[in-house]
Amino acid sequence: MGIKSNIFLGIVVILMMASCQHTSNREHYITSGQAWLDTDSSLINAHGGGVLYYKGLYYWYGEYKGDSTYRLEQVDTWECWRADARGVSCYSSPDLSNWKFEGIVLKPVKEDHSSDLHPSQVMERPKVIYNEKTGKFVLWMHVDSPDYGKGMAGVAVADRPTGPFRYLGSLKPNGFDCRDQTLFKDTDGKAYHICSTDWNKSLMVSLLSDDYTKPSGQYKRILVGQKREAPAVFKRNGTYYLLTSGCTGWDPNEASYATADSLMGEWRIQGNPCKGPKADKTFDAQSTFVLKIEGQDRYIAMFDRWNKQDLIHSSYIWLPIDFDGGEMTIEWKDRWNLNLGNTK
Ligand code: DGJ
Repeated sequence: MGIKSNIFLGIVVILMMASCQHTSNREHYITSGQAWLDTDSSLINAHGGGVLYYKGLYYWYGEYKGDSTYRLEQVDTWECWRADARGVSCYSSPDLSNWKFEGIVLKPVKEDHSSDLHPSQVMERPKVIYNEKTGKFVLWMHVDSPDYGKGMAGVAVADRPTGPFRYLGSLKPNGFDCRDQTLFKDTDGKAYHICSTDWNKSLMVSLLSDDYTKPSGQYKRILVGQKREAPAVFKRNGTYYLLTSGCTGWDPNEASYATADSLMGEWRIQGNPCKGPKADKTFDAQSTFVLKIEGQDRYIAMFDRWNKQDLIHSSYIWLPIDFDGGEMTIEWKDRWNLNLGNTK
Protein backbone atom coordinates (compact mmCIF):
# COMPACT_ATOMS: atom_id res chain seq x y z
CA MET A 1 0.00 0.00 0.00
CA GLY A 2 1.34 3.44 -0.92
CA ILE A 3 1.63 6.48 1.32
CA LYS A 4 -1.49 8.04 -0.28
CA SER A 5 -3.61 4.96 0.48
CA ASN A 6 -2.35 4.94 4.08
CA ILE A 7 -3.24 8.60 4.53
CA PHE A 8 -6.69 7.95 2.99
CA LEU A 9 -7.24 4.94 5.31
CA GLY A 10 -6.13 7.02 8.30
CA ILE A 11 -8.62 9.78 7.45
CA VAL A 12 -11.44 7.24 7.04
CA VAL A 13 -10.64 5.68 10.46
CA ILE A 14 -10.54 9.13 12.16
CA LEU A 15 -13.87 10.10 10.55
CA MET A 16 -15.45 6.80 11.64
CA MET A 17 -14.22 7.26 15.21
CA ALA A 18 -15.54 10.83 15.27
CA SER A 19 -18.94 9.72 14.01
CA CYS A 20 -19.13 6.89 16.62
CA GLN A 21 -18.33 9.38 19.36
CA HIS A 22 -21.02 11.68 18.01
CA THR A 23 -23.59 8.87 18.05
CA SER A 24 -22.72 7.77 21.56
CA ASN A 25 -22.87 11.38 22.79
CA ARG A 26 -26.44 11.54 21.58
CA GLU A 27 -27.48 8.20 23.07
CA HIS A 28 -28.33 8.54 26.71
CA TYR A 29 -30.27 5.77 28.35
CA ILE A 30 -32.50 5.93 31.41
CA THR A 31 -32.69 2.73 33.41
CA SER A 32 -35.36 3.05 36.07
CA GLY A 33 -35.31 1.56 39.54
CA GLN A 34 -31.57 0.87 39.70
CA ALA A 35 -28.75 2.64 41.48
CA TRP A 36 -28.07 5.86 39.57
CA LEU A 37 -24.51 7.14 40.01
CA ASP A 38 -23.27 10.69 39.56
CA THR A 39 -20.18 11.60 37.52
CA ASP A 40 -17.99 10.80 40.59
CA SER A 41 -19.56 7.32 40.79
CA SER A 42 -21.44 8.17 44.00
CA LEU A 43 -25.09 7.33 44.46
CA ILE A 44 -27.36 10.23 43.46
CA ASN A 45 -29.07 11.41 46.65
CA ALA A 46 -31.86 13.73 45.44
CA HIS A 47 -35.20 12.30 46.53
CA GLY A 48 -38.63 13.91 46.06
CA GLY A 49 -36.85 16.09 43.55
CA GLY A 50 -37.50 18.50 40.75
CA VAL A 51 -35.51 19.75 37.77
CA LEU A 52 -34.83 23.31 36.60
CA TYR A 53 -33.41 24.13 33.16
CA TYR A 54 -31.19 27.21 33.14
CA LYS A 55 -28.74 28.37 30.47
CA GLY A 56 -27.92 25.06 28.84
CA LEU A 57 -27.90 22.87 31.94
CA TYR A 58 -30.49 20.92 33.86
CA TYR A 59 -30.34 21.20 37.67
CA TRP A 60 -31.81 18.37 39.74
CA TYR A 61 -32.66 19.36 43.33
CA GLY A 62 -33.75 16.84 45.92
CA GLU A 63 -33.80 15.68 49.51
CA TYR A 64 -30.32 14.70 50.62
CA LYS A 65 -31.19 11.85 52.96
CA GLY A 66 -29.11 10.67 55.89
CA ASP A 67 -27.77 7.13 55.62
CA SER A 68 -29.66 5.55 58.49
CA THR A 69 -33.43 5.04 58.58
CA TYR A 70 -35.37 4.79 61.84
CA ARG A 71 -39.01 4.51 62.76
CA LEU A 72 -40.60 7.08 65.07
CA GLU A 73 -42.22 4.78 67.61
CA GLN A 74 -44.32 7.53 69.20
CA VAL A 75 -46.30 7.76 65.95
CA ASP A 76 -48.64 4.77 66.10
CA THR A 77 -51.26 5.67 63.47
CA TRP A 78 -48.93 5.09 60.49
CA GLU A 79 -45.42 3.86 59.77
CA CYS A 80 -43.39 7.02 60.28
CA TRP A 81 -40.03 5.94 58.81
CA ARG A 82 -37.50 8.74 58.84
CA ALA A 83 -33.97 9.47 57.69
CA ASP A 84 -32.16 12.61 58.82
CA ALA A 85 -32.78 15.59 56.57
CA ARG A 86 -29.28 16.55 55.48
CA GLY A 87 -30.29 19.51 53.32
CA VAL A 88 -31.17 20.02 49.67
CA SER A 89 -28.77 18.55 47.12
CA CYS A 90 -28.17 19.75 43.57
CA TYR A 91 -26.80 17.92 40.52
CA SER A 92 -26.23 19.43 37.08
CA SER A 93 -26.33 17.82 33.66
CA PRO A 94 -26.22 18.85 30.01
CA ASP A 95 -27.97 15.67 28.88
CA LEU A 96 -30.29 14.47 31.72
CA SER A 97 -28.21 11.33 32.03
CA ASN A 98 -24.77 12.28 33.40
CA TRP A 99 -25.19 14.22 36.64
CA LYS A 100 -22.45 16.17 38.42
CA PHE A 101 -22.85 16.69 42.17
CA GLU A 102 -22.95 20.45 42.86
CA GLY A 103 -23.14 20.00 46.61
CA ILE A 104 -25.68 20.70 49.34
CA VAL A 105 -27.20 23.98 48.19
CA LEU A 106 -29.40 24.48 51.27
CA LYS A 107 -27.46 23.30 54.29
CA PRO A 108 -28.99 21.73 57.38
CA VAL A 109 -28.68 23.66 60.66
CA LYS A 110 -27.13 21.13 63.01
CA GLU A 111 -26.73 23.35 66.08
CA ASP A 112 -30.34 24.46 66.57
CA HIS A 113 -32.76 21.63 67.32
CA SER A 114 -35.78 23.90 66.80
CA SER A 115 -34.72 25.09 63.32
CA ASP A 116 -36.82 23.89 60.35
CA LEU A 117 -33.48 22.84 58.86
CA HIS A 118 -32.31 20.67 61.77
CA PRO A 119 -31.61 17.11 60.49
CA SER A 120 -34.27 15.70 62.87
CA GLN A 121 -37.00 17.73 61.14
CA VAL A 122 -38.79 16.89 57.90
CA MET A 123 -37.54 18.69 54.76
CA GLU A 124 -39.13 17.19 51.64
CA ARG A 125 -39.95 17.71 47.96
CA PRO A 126 -37.77 20.78 47.24
CA LYS A 127 -38.50 22.56 43.95
CA VAL A 128 -36.67 25.51 42.41
CA ILE A 129 -37.79 28.13 39.86
CA TYR A 130 -35.97 31.14 38.48
CA ASN A 131 -37.39 34.64 38.77
CA GLU A 132 -36.38 36.77 35.78
CA LYS A 133 -37.43 40.03 37.47
CA THR A 134 -35.36 39.60 40.64
CA GLY A 135 -32.63 37.38 39.14
CA LYS A 136 -33.09 34.99 42.09
CA PHE A 137 -33.53 31.25 42.23
CA VAL A 138 -36.42 30.49 44.56
CA LEU A 139 -36.75 27.18 46.40
CA TRP A 140 -39.90 25.95 48.12
CA MET A 141 -40.16 22.74 50.11
CA HIS A 142 -42.31 20.94 52.63
CA VAL A 143 -41.00 21.46 56.16
CA ASP A 144 -42.46 19.61 59.07
CA SER A 145 -41.98 18.34 62.59
CA PRO A 146 -40.53 14.80 62.85
CA ASP A 147 -44.07 13.35 63.20
CA TYR A 148 -45.40 15.45 60.25
CA GLY A 149 -47.78 17.32 62.58
CA LYS A 150 -46.66 20.87 61.71
CA GLY A 151 -47.41 20.93 57.95
CA MET A 152 -45.69 24.04 56.56
CA ALA A 153 -43.78 25.29 53.51
CA GLY A 154 -40.21 26.57 53.69
CA VAL A 155 -38.77 29.16 51.27
CA ALA A 156 -35.16 29.98 50.34
CA VAL A 157 -33.45 32.11 47.67
CA ALA A 158 -30.11 32.09 45.87
CA ASP A 159 -28.25 34.14 43.28
CA ARG A 160 -27.03 31.09 41.41
CA PRO A 161 -28.67 27.75 40.57
CA THR A 162 -25.99 25.99 42.59
CA GLY A 163 -26.66 28.13 45.66
CA PRO A 164 -25.93 28.73 48.40
CA PHE A 165 -29.63 29.16 49.20
CA ARG A 166 -30.52 31.51 52.05
CA TYR A 167 -33.45 30.32 54.15
CA LEU A 168 -36.23 32.90 54.51
CA GLY A 169 -38.40 30.85 56.91
CA SER A 170 -41.58 28.79 56.89
CA LEU A 171 -45.23 29.65 56.45
CA LYS A 172 -48.71 28.16 56.16
CA PRO A 173 -49.86 29.22 52.68
CA ASN A 174 -53.01 31.34 53.07
CA GLY A 175 -53.18 30.16 56.68
CA PHE A 176 -53.64 26.47 55.78
CA ASP A 177 -51.54 23.40 56.51
CA CYS A 178 -49.34 22.26 53.65
CA ARG A 179 -47.49 19.02 53.04
CA ASP A 180 -46.43 17.45 49.70
CA GLN A 181 -45.85 20.34 47.35
CA THR A 182 -44.52 21.55 44.03
CA LEU A 183 -43.99 24.76 42.05
CA PHE A 184 -45.12 25.66 38.56
CA LYS A 185 -43.93 28.66 36.57
CA ASP A 186 -46.27 29.55 33.75
CA THR A 187 -45.32 30.93 30.35
CA ASP A 188 -46.52 34.43 31.40
CA GLY A 189 -43.98 34.49 34.24
CA LYS A 190 -46.56 33.94 37.00
CA ALA A 191 -45.66 31.20 39.45
CA TYR A 192 -47.81 28.91 41.55
CA HIS A 193 -47.36 26.77 44.64
CA ILE A 194 -49.41 23.58 44.69
CA CYS A 195 -49.67 21.56 47.91
CA SER A 196 -51.72 18.99 49.76
CA THR A 197 -53.78 20.68 52.46
CA ASP A 198 -56.58 19.96 54.96
CA TRP A 199 -54.48 17.08 56.30
CA ASN A 200 -54.06 15.75 52.75
CA LYS A 201 -57.79 15.73 51.99
CA SER A 202 -57.48 18.35 49.22
CA LEU A 203 -54.94 20.25 47.18
CA MET A 204 -54.46 24.01 47.08
CA VAL A 205 -53.11 26.15 44.23
CA SER A 206 -51.67 29.51 45.33
CA LEU A 207 -50.55 32.25 42.99
CA LEU A 208 -47.20 33.51 44.29
CA SER A 209 -46.10 37.10 44.78
CA ASP A 210 -44.11 38.69 41.93
CA ASP A 211 -40.83 37.71 43.65
CA TYR A 212 -42.14 34.12 44.12
CA THR A 213 -41.31 34.10 47.86
CA LYS A 214 -44.84 34.39 49.31
CA PRO A 215 -48.42 33.47 48.43
CA SER A 216 -50.12 36.47 46.76
CA GLY A 217 -53.38 35.82 48.61
CA GLN A 218 -55.11 34.46 45.49
CA TYR A 219 -55.67 30.73 45.87
CA LYS A 220 -58.07 27.89 45.13
CA ARG A 221 -58.69 24.52 46.72
CA ILE A 222 -58.83 21.80 44.08
CA LEU A 223 -59.57 18.05 44.00
CA VAL A 224 -61.43 18.71 47.24
CA GLY A 225 -61.89 15.55 49.32
CA GLN A 226 -59.93 13.44 46.81
CA LYS A 227 -57.04 12.71 49.25
CA ARG A 228 -54.18 13.22 46.83
CA GLU A 229 -50.51 14.04 47.37
CA ALA A 230 -47.17 14.06 45.47
CA PRO A 231 -48.37 16.73 42.97
CA ALA A 232 -46.50 17.33 39.69
CA VAL A 233 -47.80 20.00 37.31
CA PHE A 234 -47.01 20.83 33.70
CA LYS A 235 -48.62 22.55 30.74
CA ARG A 236 -48.88 21.33 27.17
CA ASN A 237 -50.68 23.00 24.25
CA GLY A 238 -52.58 25.28 26.65
CA THR A 239 -53.80 22.44 28.89
CA TYR A 240 -52.56 22.07 32.47
CA TYR A 241 -51.84 18.56 33.73
CA LEU A 242 -51.66 17.54 37.39
CA LEU A 243 -50.24 14.12 38.27
CA THR A 244 -50.76 12.92 41.85
CA SER A 245 -50.64 9.86 44.08
CA GLY A 246 -53.01 8.65 46.76
CA CYS A 247 -52.07 8.96 50.46
CA THR A 248 -50.56 5.72 51.78
CA GLY A 249 -47.39 6.95 53.47
CA TRP A 250 -44.26 5.49 51.86
CA ASP A 251 -46.23 2.64 50.25
CA PRO A 252 -47.17 2.86 46.58
CA ASN A 253 -50.71 3.34 45.35
CA GLU A 254 -52.51 4.21 42.12
CA ALA A 255 -51.57 7.44 40.35
CA SER A 256 -54.15 9.70 38.80
CA TYR A 257 -54.07 12.81 36.66
CA ALA A 258 -56.37 15.72 36.13
CA THR A 259 -56.50 18.41 33.46
CA ALA A 260 -57.65 22.03 33.45
CA ASP A 261 -57.76 25.02 31.15
CA SER A 262 -56.45 27.24 33.92
CA LEU A 263 -54.64 26.47 37.16
CA MET A 264 -57.34 28.15 39.23
CA GLY A 265 -60.11 26.72 37.06
CA GLU A 266 -62.02 23.46 37.13
CA TRP A 267 -59.89 20.33 37.23
CA ARG A 268 -61.24 17.27 35.43
CA ILE A 269 -60.13 13.93 36.87
CA GLN A 270 -58.86 11.67 34.06
CA GLY A 271 -57.71 8.55 35.92
CA ASN A 272 -54.54 6.50 36.05
CA PRO A 273 -52.07 7.30 33.23
CA CYS A 274 -49.74 4.36 34.03
CA LYS A 275 -49.60 1.30 31.76
CA GLY A 276 -47.74 -1.98 32.11
CA PRO A 277 -46.66 -4.14 35.05
CA LYS A 278 -47.65 -2.71 38.44
CA ALA A 279 -49.46 0.19 36.77
CA ASP A 280 -52.04 0.02 39.58
CA LYS A 281 -49.23 0.80 42.04
CA THR A 282 -47.45 3.43 39.90
CA PHE A 283 -44.68 0.87 39.17
CA ASP A 284 -44.07 0.71 42.97
CA ALA A 285 -43.30 4.41 43.00
CA GLN A 286 -44.75 7.87 43.65
CA SER A 287 -44.77 10.98 41.46
CA THR A 288 -42.52 13.92 42.22
CA PHE A 289 -42.11 16.06 39.08
CA VAL A 290 -42.71 16.29 35.35
CA LEU A 291 -39.69 17.51 33.45
CA LYS A 292 -40.05 19.20 30.06
CA ILE A 293 -37.15 18.59 27.71
CA GLU A 294 -35.94 22.05 26.76
CA GLY A 295 -37.10 23.20 23.34
CA GLN A 296 -39.06 20.02 22.67
CA ASP A 297 -42.61 18.81 23.08
CA ARG A 298 -41.40 15.93 25.25
CA TYR A 299 -42.01 15.34 28.95
CA ILE A 300 -40.51 12.97 31.49
CA ALA A 301 -42.46 11.81 34.54
CA MET A 302 -40.17 11.52 37.56
CA PHE A 303 -41.09 9.18 40.40
CA ASP A 304 -39.47 7.96 43.63
CA ARG A 305 -39.50 4.26 44.39
CA TRP A 306 -39.37 4.57 48.17
CA ASN A 307 -37.43 2.02 50.17
CA LYS A 308 -39.12 2.91 53.42
CA GLN A 309 -36.78 0.98 55.72
CA ASP A 310 -33.68 2.27 53.93
CA LEU A 311 -34.76 5.62 52.54
CA ILE A 312 -31.40 6.72 51.14
CA HIS A 313 -31.55 3.70 48.85
CA SER A 314 -34.89 4.68 47.37
CA SER A 315 -34.48 4.69 43.59
CA TYR A 316 -35.67 6.87 40.75
CA ILE A 317 -38.13 5.98 38.01
CA TRP A 318 -38.08 8.28 35.00
CA LEU A 319 -40.45 7.49 32.15
CA PRO A 320 -41.49 9.32 28.98
CA ILE A 321 -45.04 10.62 28.77
CA ASP A 322 -47.06 9.85 25.65
CA PHE A 323 -50.00 11.86 24.42
CA ASP A 324 -52.38 10.08 22.17
CA GLY A 325 -55.46 12.05 21.19
CA GLY A 326 -54.92 14.28 24.23
CA GLU A 327 -54.86 11.31 26.61
CA MET A 328 -51.73 11.08 28.74
CA THR A 329 -50.06 7.70 29.22
CA ILE A 330 -46.93 6.65 31.07
CA GLU A 331 -45.81 3.20 30.05
CA TRP A 332 -43.25 1.14 31.93
CA LYS A 333 -39.88 0.77 30.19
CA ASP A 334 -36.92 -1.08 31.73
CA ARG A 335 -34.53 1.05 29.75
CA TRP A 336 -35.11 3.77 27.15
CA ASN A 337 -33.09 6.11 25.01
CA LEU A 338 -33.52 9.79 25.88
CA ASN A 339 -32.68 10.47 22.24
CA LEU A 340 -32.26 14.21 22.80
CA GLY A 341 -31.73 14.73 19.08
CA ASN A 342 -35.30 13.62 18.48
CA THR A 343 -37.34 16.78 18.73
CA LYS A 344 -40.79 15.15 18.55
C1 DGJ B 1 -45.77 10.41 51.24
C2 DGJ B 1 -45.17 11.68 50.76
O1 DGJ B 1 -45.47 11.83 49.43
C3 DGJ B 1 -43.67 11.64 50.98
O2 DGJ B 1 -43.10 12.81 50.49
C4 DGJ B 1 -43.43 11.47 52.44
O3 DGJ B 1 -43.93 12.59 53.12
C5 DGJ B 1 -44.13 10.21 52.93
N1 DGJ B 1 -45.54 10.28 52.62
C6 DGJ B 1 -43.99 10.02 54.40
O4 DGJ B 1 -44.68 8.86 54.75
